[in-house]
Amino acid sequence: MKKIIVTGSTGYIGSHTLIDLIENGYTPISVDNESRSNAKILVGVENITHQKITHYKAELCDEAAVKAIFEAEGSISGIIHFAAYKTVPESVSHPLRYYRNNLVSLMNLLEAADSYRVPAFIFSSSCSVYGNVTQLPVTETTPLSPAESPYGNTKKIGEEMIRDFSKVSNAKYIALRYFNPVGAHPSGLIGELPLGKPENLMPLIIEAATGQRPHLSVFGSDYPTRDGTCIRDYVHVSDIAHAHTLAIGYLLHHEQAPAFDVLNMGNGNGVTVKELIDTFQEVNQVEVPFIFTHRRPGDVIAVYSDNTKTNKILNWNPRYTIRDICASAWAWEKFRLSFFNNEN
Ligand code: WQD
Repeated sequence: MKKIIVTGSTGYIGSHTLIDLIENGYTPISVDNESRSNAKILVGVENITHQKITHYKAELCDEAAVKAIFEAEGSISGIIHFAAYKTVPESVSHPLRYYRNNLVSLMNLLEAADSYRVPAFIFSSSCSVYGNVTQLPVTETTPLSPAESPYGNTKKIGEEMIRDFSKVSNAKYIALRYFNPVGAHPSGLIGELPLGKPENLMPLIIEAATGQRPHLSVFGSDYPTRDGTCIRDYVHVSDIAHAHTLAIGYLLHHEQAPAFDVLNMGNGNGVTVKELIDTFQEVNQVEVPFIFTHRRPGDVIAVYSDNTKTNKILNWNPRYTIRDICASAWAWEKFRLSFFNNEN
């Protein structure tokens, strides 16, 4: 069984990727410092896969801790590196916290990957690297504008670090640029489990729908879009998870794969905030109370992907629609409230 180290494994996309790796014959090794996630999510992963997960609670900024994992696990076929801080406003108020955590952990992993001759490395990047785009849809050759936040900049710098390192490393690398990951595993047994206050739209839609907050604030209704609200590319988390499994397989089985490449991770459709709210209400037959408020600083008007290159290279075709996304997110929330007694 090919062992794949998955960092940030008890996080949202990481936990879904553990499942997809197992379903595709890999053995994931779970690594997370649990500072921003709840390891209880592994109970759901084990219930879905009927497999015990090897888990390390470890700090990736600690070089010795990283080496200890590789020493303990022996031959590793790949690394999928999700672990990073990802809250945009926090990155603005605490930039060095983000540069240190997101880049030191990446450097430690890159060095370990090389020392322990790991052949395949997948890096969790973000559409944030494109900054405020004017050309839509976004392709991997769209020129990068200045990142809108230190968070986005850590992804941009991370990609450049990997690009430079890939020229002197034996491994091959792919950076996956996520658009807006949403939804939950179809079983309803795992999903997004944000510690602390959620920032992203879908968890906040859900909090308004369940009465955990009086209403959702829609940030801006006067944008130059079809209904005045911002446009994003919402992509199901299980589709994103499967792309990671495909990317590992591609690097392990394609000699001609370049040393480093970047791939868009979006489903290629632009959806407005209002359209997402309307779909959520209709699919789940539930009301989402909302009010229109001021624009949020740093928001881009519209960003959505052209995923042709990803489809071509990985043969990746998103399976889930925006309706599936809304239904799965709601099903998970109902399970979460019962299973976790509404504590995160
Ligand atoms: C989506 C839309 C908001 C909350 C984030 C990260 C980015 C990347 C993708 C990781 C926007 C609107 C939101 C609310 C609202 N993540 N909104 N009311 O900002 O597109 O990008 O996810 O790589 O790095 O920043 O996602 O969910 O915060 O916002 O109206 O209470 O929903 O204005 O138009 P965003 P988001």
